Amino acid sequence: MSHIPVMLEESLGFFRGKRLRTFFDGTLGGGGFAERLLVEHPEIERYYGCDRDEEALSLARKNLSAMQDKVVFINGDFRELDTLLASQGVEEVDGFFLILECRRCS
Ligand SMILES: C[S@@+](CC[C@H](N)C(=O)[O-])C[C@H]1O[C@@H](n2cnc3c(N)ncnc32)[C@H](O)[C@@H]1O
Repeated sequence: MSHIPVMLEESLGFFRGKRLRTFFDGTLGGGGFAERLLVEHPEIERYYGCDRDEEALSLARKNLSAMQDKVVFINGDFRELDTLLASQGVEEVDGFFLILECRRCS
């Protein structure tokens, strides 16, 4: 069974009407959110997809193969997003998305 991203519609809704040319996704996972956002925002030129798990990145590479010219896959921890983006020559992005988990709740 494929992964169903949590609160997908609510998350996509937040970005509707916003012009996004560059985007940082710190919890890329299998790329479910990324795929939908890239379809809804064809103006996105560069989508920086980061995950600390290599296996998740491999899955995302496969799932996002049709959009691979726009996606930069980054293996790393989003807590270092400044450094990760700087290594790509990027100082700022138009939007970003992170899934934050509460340790006390999980
Ligand atoms: C629920 S999945 C993401 C689902 C994805 N957004 C989607 O729509 O398909 C959470 C992912 O976040 C990654 N992750 C969690 N904490 C992270 C961190 N601090 N830095 C980078 N990746 C992280 C995990 O490895 C996992 O692949």
